[in-house]
Amino acid sequence: MSKEKLGLNTICTHLGEVKDEQFKGAVSPMYLSSSYEFLDVDVKRYPRYFNTPNQEYLAKKIAALEHTEAALIFGSGMAAISHMFLAFLQKGDHLVVQNTLYGGTVNFIKEEFPKYGIEYTFTNGYKVEDFETAIQPNTKLIHIETPSNPLLTITDIKAIAKLGKVKNIVTSIDNTFASPVNQNPIDLGIDMVMHSATKYFGGHSDICAGAVASSQEYIDRVWNVSKNLGGSLSDMTVWMLERSMKTLGLRVKAQTKNAMKMAKWLNKHPKIDKVYYPGLKSHPEHKLAKSQMKGFGAMLSFELKEGLDAYQFQKALKLIKSSMSLAGVESTVISPHLTSHALLTQEERDKVGISDRLIRFSVGIEDVKDLKRDIDKAIAALK
Ligand SMILES: Cc1ncc(COP(=O)(O)O)c(C=O)c1O
Repeated sequence: MSKEKLGLNTICTHLGEVKDEQFKGAVSPMYLSSSYEFLDVDVKRYPRYFNTPNQEYLAKKIAALEHTEAALIFGSGMAAISHMFLAFLQKGDHLVVQNTLYGGTVNFIKEEFPKYGIEYTFTNGYKVEDFETAIQPNTKLIHIETPSNPLLTITDIKAIAKLGKVKNIVTSIDNTFASPVNQNPIDLGIDMVMHSATKYFGGHSDICAGAVASSQEYIDRVWNVSKNLGGSLSDMTVWMLERSMKTLGLRVKAQTKNAMKMAKWLNKHPKIDKVYYPGLKSHPEHKLAKSQMKGFGAMLSFELKEGLDAYQFQKALKLIKSSMSLAGVESTVISPHLTSHALLTQEERDKVGISDRLIRFSVGIEDVKDLKRDIDKAIAALK
């Protein structure tokens, strides 16, 4: 591959292919070996060392998409986030973390950090001042999520990166919701990017995976911890993920376009109270989102009008599935208070604004008219 700058879809399709030197096949061969030559070789390969041919090459694609030097692929998004945190935080260190973020990350911090003697502060909000006031002398990492799950809050990535540089604190971001198609936080100064690759990278609701991308130096630091914790992804799934990522650009752009149409339509719907989507001018951080995102993404949330039952609404949908996960080519909905944020107390959910009427909507690639009809019919079916 030449050194000229490649376009997004070319990176998705070609970069990080394992060349089939023997048979000249069009796609990467799958190397399932868990045992490689040890004597007289430059690289000692082993799946848990994240360096089988398929792992090594797919990591190059992810690094190229996130504009970083290196990346590692994990068995889940939570493996990626936990290994990243544990590589940069040790006993006595302190993490500043955004209060509006994926519930699994909240659980990991609350349930596991006390066992490791790591301190943490959840911010009171998602503005840069909220992060600044939470910093302590032992803060070693600031972690943000923007757009956040499920309320689509937008945090100023550049301002957080600057804060980290000024205070000499490493910064990381969960870029799952935007994907590199819509947002490149490294270009805005953030040090590390992580993904639940279960979502847009996989895109077909049939893969569980994760990724961290950063400079070679930081990825080496993560690797040093990850090789001990053992959260690598099986080569069969790595191969599937490579195949899925060939269409990442096409899928996410089509989904993003659909999401904008659905957000505008829902925003005017008489039975919908509120729509959370950074692409809407009414979103409080619309201008900020526009300045730091290439597209507004394909995730949105909305609240049904008082008296309309969110559970019955989801049961009444025929085309749009109710589903735990998100970001597949098929549209899905879920109540965050029953799933991703179920382990938060009612008080905690109220504090961040996750009501029982909130529906998180992952917009797929279907025809918008069919999605609208499905929602209208489901609402009409409610008593
Ligand atoms: C924003 C975000 N980050 C991380 C995760 C965790 O990823 P995984 O389920 O692949 O472990 C999720 C899962 O829903 C997510 O939505």
